[in-house]
Amino acid sequence: MKFIATDVSDTREKMVGMASAQLEQQGFAIDSYFYRSHVTYETELENIIFKSWLYAGHISQIANNGDYFLFDIGEDSLIINRDGDGEVRVMHNICRHRGARVVEETSGNRRTFVCPYHGWAYSNDGSLKRAREMDKLEGFSCADYDLKKVRFEVFHGMIFINCDPRAPDFVAPLENITRQLGAYDLTNAKVAHSKTYRINANWKLCLENYLECYHCSSSHRQYAKLHTLQASFDKVKPLNEAMWARAAEITGVPGIAEDYYGYYNDSASFGACSYHSRYALYDGVKTGSADGQPLAPLMGNMQGYDGGAGDFQMGPLTFMLNYPDHCVLYRFIPRSLTETDMELVWYVNGNAEEGVDYDREKLTWLWHHTSLEDEYIIMRNSEGVNSRFYQPGPYHPEHEATCMEFIRWYLQMLVSTAT
Ligand code: FES
Ligand SMILES: [Fe+2]
Repeated sequence: MKFIATDVSDTREKMVGMASAQLEQQGFAIDSYFYRSHVTYETELENIIFKSWLYAGHISQIANNGDYFLFDIGEDSLIINRDGDGEVRVMHNICRHRGARVVEETSGNRRTFVCPYHGWAYSNDGSLKRAREMDKLEGFSCADYDLKKVRFEVFHGMIFINCDPRAPDFVAPLENITRQLGAYDLTNAKVAHSKTYRINANWKLCLENYLECYHCSSSHRQYAKLHTLQASFDKVKPLNEAMWARAAEITGVPGIAEDYYGYYNDSASFGACSYHSRYALYDGVKTGSADGQPLAPLMGNMQGYDGGAGDFQMGPLTFMLNYPDHCVLYRFIPRSLTETDMELVWYVNGNAEEGVDYDREKLTWLWHHTSLEDEYIIMRNSEGVNSRFYQPGPYHPEHEATCMEFIRWYLQMLVSTAT
């Protein structure tokens, strides 16, 4: 981790002033201040990260009563589990006594969660069952000290959480992409592999990198051979139009190629981003593999390879790139001012068997390597923007349009904290 000096004169007023000035510079990358300021980072956690719908995991990770896994966000930890009655629960992993982390192991199966500090014991529905010798405290009742609950929604088998109890509904805006996403039947899909890449860079650098493909032709040679997104829209228009014309018939999914743009400022409500577009792979390429040939059985409701891939966004920090035979989910989570967890999850058809229907190495090869390339360029980016000599340059009007959209939304959020 790079050491970021604390600016002792940093304040909310300074942050709001910087954000207002930056909004006057639309079309330009943002000042290094936004990647280095602890005040800004705290504001982001408070106003974006803990107010947004974030992908936590898939329902199959808690298939049995008592199954749980942890989801770490910033310095926080959530328990996602299925209780003894089969109900899904999401709870803060913070003891109601004096705040110790109750659960340490990242996944497992438990009937009770016993705090390692003074032994308070919680049932797996979060209710406090035993608080050793606390009967000595007059009026104490276990019923007052359940683990704190967190809101969640299950959408196509994917569990999304929101730490803001008053957050607006998430599922209704996602209905706009439900037909397209339904093609892959993610409810019954299988998590073939997942991996967390800890990137030593501010989360916005990781996100900005994901939101543009200007870097794809120079940084991702393998990806660029297969996917037309790396080229300007005009150049690959005929490929896209041909794919859109055949997509519904070949895949057997009506509306699979329909676009929907509802992200950032165009979201139905704050942070409830919902987006889909289908873009072409180059001629002869069926999926995201070394030779463009299939890696696994077709996903859920897909009936064929149309030479396209579905690009999705759900909430501000969760994305999917869905091929006919596998889906790759991306999620970005800040862990500190200078550290980000980039989580990748590879989904295959729920009936696919590893070693028989797919090879895990081959399945994960493209996006594992592409992610390592991304890590490399994000790190170089981080080193540059943290220099005192860094001066932001212009975004590309087409290739980096989504970055600009994100940045505008982000700066407006910072400015709104002044009122
Ligand atoms: S902090 Fe958990 S029992 Fe004391
Ligand atoms: Fe990339």
